[in-house]
Amino acid sequence: MTHQVKGVVAKSKGEPVSIETIEIPNPGPGEVLIDVKACGVCHTDLHYREGAINDEFPFLLGHEAAGLVEEVGEGVTDLIPGDFVILNWRAVCGHCRSCRRGRPWNCFSTHNATQKMKLDGKELSPALGIGAFAEKTLVAAGQATKVNPEAKPEVAGLIGCGVMAGLGAAMNTGQVSRGDSVAVFGCGGVGDAAIEGSRLAGAHTIIAVDIDSTKLEWAKEFGATHTIDSSKVDPVEAIREITDGNGVDVAIEAIGLPITYEQAFYSRDLAGTVVLVGVPNPEMKIELPMIEIFGRGGTLKSSWYGDCLPSRDFPMLIDLYLQGRLELDRFVSETIELDEVEEAFHKMERGEVLRSVVIL
Ligand code: APR
Ligand code: ZN
Ligand code: ZN
Repeated sequence: MTHQVKGVVAKSKGEPVSIETIEIPNPGPGEVLIDVKACGVCHTDLHYREGAINDEFPFLLGHEAAGLVEEVGEGVTDLIPGDFVILNWRAVCGHCRSCRRGRPWNCFSTHNATQKMKLDGKELSPALGIGAFAEKTLVAAGQATKVNPEAKPEVAGLIGCGVMAGLGAAMNTGQVSRGDSVAVFGCGGVGDAAIEGSRLAGAHTIIAVDIDSTKLEWAKEFGATHTIDSSKVDPVEAIREITDGNGVDVAIEAIGLPITYEQAFYSRDLAGTVVLVGVPNPEMKIELPMIEIFGRGGTLKSSWYGDCLPSRDFPMLIDLYLQGRLELDRFVSETIELDEVEEAFHKMERGEVLRSVVIL
């Protein structure tokens, strides 16, 4: 039996998305059918519809989601119908060279559902192997992480992508710890989550850098102790002033631009860490004097999906949220219907929202 449900599809490059009736097979071995309850609108969905990821149209968009397990396929032992889950795009394989070395958060061979969802008989490419702007979706069991069902779906789903990327950039990749000073470049959803993560990890100075004054106001609400409008002042100098002339222990770039990467690089203290979590485009280049890379020491890192391990991090973060120790509600700028995704892309482009979240 196939399930016929509504989903948001990008049919061709640059065209506005449309609501289509898609076909989803019953879950096969190792797969689960998810009754999607909420899905956040992320930049990556827009990148798919612009053809910036690949040309495998049509795409079923959406990947920042929470829902209920509706049906499980053969061999799925750790999920049952009714479980409340957050979807992830790192279903750890357990066998690749990274997993075998005990580094599953870098898994090089994560898996998705084997069967395809279809539109008019044509295979759909689900965004990040998920495709959750839909009433139901089909994923690999490892892509669904069970969490406490007391969390609201629109909040829980955000842990599945952007918020996890930012929290993890600070907590996992940057290893921010008690007493550290941190600068975060770019205060969108990802940057604000990096600010939250730094606060939670015990950073005593958290400097938010952005060119938009509203974003800087929001950043304070997430825990920034200082803000710098880098359209008005040189952020490197301003960060040095705040840190007794030294620079920060950890500088997090959450935009994906050469200029802000360079600012992050120079705003570090000696032996400090730079974390790149913003995603650059393939044309971008940076030029740095090699002597500065050597002379400043420390570490230059990239953060893939916040270097998260969904099975370890998702339930823990939801518990912290339910205990009132992690602010997640503030990331939800608005809740919308499935047919409002295209408009949400425009709001995102205009910088009006941290996250629009589709409720189903
Ligand atoms: N200097 C400082 N801040 C800037 C600059 C700049 N030159 N250019 C843009 N910004 C700010 C914007 O004002 C905005 O507040 O960066 C922020 C980016 O936020 P969003 O566009 O909301 O993006 P977000 O969802 O947070 O994602 C950030 O992380 O995962 C990646 O693909 C994602 O590359 C993107 C990045
Ligand atoms: Zn692996
Ligand atoms: Zn995303």
